[in-house]
Amino acid sequence: MSADPTLTKTLFIKTYGCQMNVYDSARMADVLAPLGYAQAAAPEGADLVILNTCHIREKAAEKVYSELGRIRALKQAKAARGETMLIAVAGCVAQAEGEEMLRRAPQVDLVFGPQSYHRLPDLLSRAEAGEGGQVELGFPIEDKFDSLPEESLEQGPSAFLTVQEGCDKFCSFCVVPYTRGAEFSRPVADILAEAERRVAVGALELTLLGQNVNAYHGSGPAGASWGLGRLIRRLAELPGLARIRYTTSHPRDLDDELIAAHRDLPSLMPYLHLPVQAGSDRILAAMNRRHGADDYRRAVERLRRARPDIALSSDFIVGFPGEDDRDFAETLRLVTDVGFAQAYSFKYSARPGTPAAKLPDQVPEPVKAERLAQLQSLLDAQQAAFNQASVGRRLEVLLERRGRAAGQLVGRSPAMQAVHVAAPESLFGRLVEVEITAAHPNSLAGRLLDGDAGLRAAAPQEAERACA
Ligand code: 5AD
Ligand code: SF4
Repeated sequence: MSADPTLTKTLFIKTYGCQMNVYDSARMADVLAPLGYAQAAAPEGADLVILNTCHIREKAAEKVYSELGRIRALKQAKAARGETMLIAVAGCVAQAEGEEMLRRAPQVDLVFGPQSYHRLPDLLSRAEAGEGGQVELGFPIEDKFDSLPEESLEQGPSAFLTVQEGCDKFCSFCVVPYTRGAEFSRPVADILAEAERRVAVGALELTLLGQNVNAYHGSGPAGASWGLGRLIRRLAELPGLARIRYTTSHPRDLDDELIAAHRDLPSLMPYLHLPVQAGSDRILAAMNRRHGADDYRRAVERLRRARPDIALSSDFIVGFPGEDDRDFAETLRLVTDVGFAQAYSFKYSARPGTPAAKLPDQVPEPVKAERLAQLQSLLDAQQAAFNQASVGRRLEVLLERRGRAAGQLVGRSPAMQAVHVAAPESLFGRLVEVEITAAHPNSLAGRLLDGDAGLRAAAPQEAERACA
């Protein structure tokens, strides 16, 4: 929240889904600040409520409609006091539902897709002028980045930076190519300028975001096309930037340049989220993944040769149409072969408009549930073993949020493990050295190494982390 007296209206944004939505929500706040909107912590009484939605998995639209029901009551309460509340739905559900959203939820004033939020001021002024429901679903991505204001200076030690948007892969289960549109990479110069600004206001860590981030191919100086590896190599030269991460990647786009970046750059963290989705070649082909299980195993080998301590994470889908017991056993085998530090796994859910939704042989719900439980117990055991192996080690931790207990700060290890440590408030936003004393299923506990010896780098200022 800002105390700026020129901010006269209040804005509440609820963000669903991925980190790109977190980044987009922050940028929406940036677009709206010049119009006098300050962010509020709750929707009650807000002048503008934005739901920034996610459509990737089941019941996304239904959840948004039920949230809209709750917000309608707040809008009515405000109207009874003679005041107005505008309601906007943004993000991928908005993109997928479009006009339908205004029909089903007439309390909504604005519906706009992920590529249209730079047009918010215009849409808002039309809605305020009583022009009825405004719907904006275009895909002019270049316009979006060109016409956004510079990002706000409120941010913490770890910041997101969108470098790429959209996806051309068309995995047969996935809505992203339809809701986010075709791949687009921001030019190198724009990314470097944003990175410099973020570092100048206190970011020690940058996470480069993109739906298919390692497909990045932005235009560099003199018109050359730069891949993600080259971009990261350049970013690693920025003074003060201690850590670089990127997400989410596709195994097909893991090129030699990116692997070499993992080999050569200490600030590129030894952690990679590389979704494989399934371990059966038959299912991977039906998913239109364009890689087999052995391609994935080879990619992991190349990565581990370059950076032996790299921790791997993945996404899995169980119960894709036609998946039988043998296919599922192949997924378990792949997990056993690779060994993951952590992972996300989901039951397949048919997304309207995607090719897989029309496939025969949809897998019954109880079978999906059983497979998910089996897969998750294997993945949980791998994560527990990975965390356990950290006990007794010294890890560098970026203290980026306050813990639930008083006097506790929480940060991330290089491999993205959450680490809880008793530490004075003055170390918030710092990179410190921690000895790990205990491992839990989803986190570690540690002891701050003595005094300044544990201090690796100083953040220029203390700032609230802008991202979740
Ligand atoms: N059903 C289940 N999981 C899905 N994902 C994407 N689409 C679906 C779907 N239709 C998962 C994939 C992806 C992650 C972000 O969400 O595993 O990598
Ligand atoms: Fe969706 Fe990722 Fe496949 Fe693109 S690569 S279609 S974002 S699952």
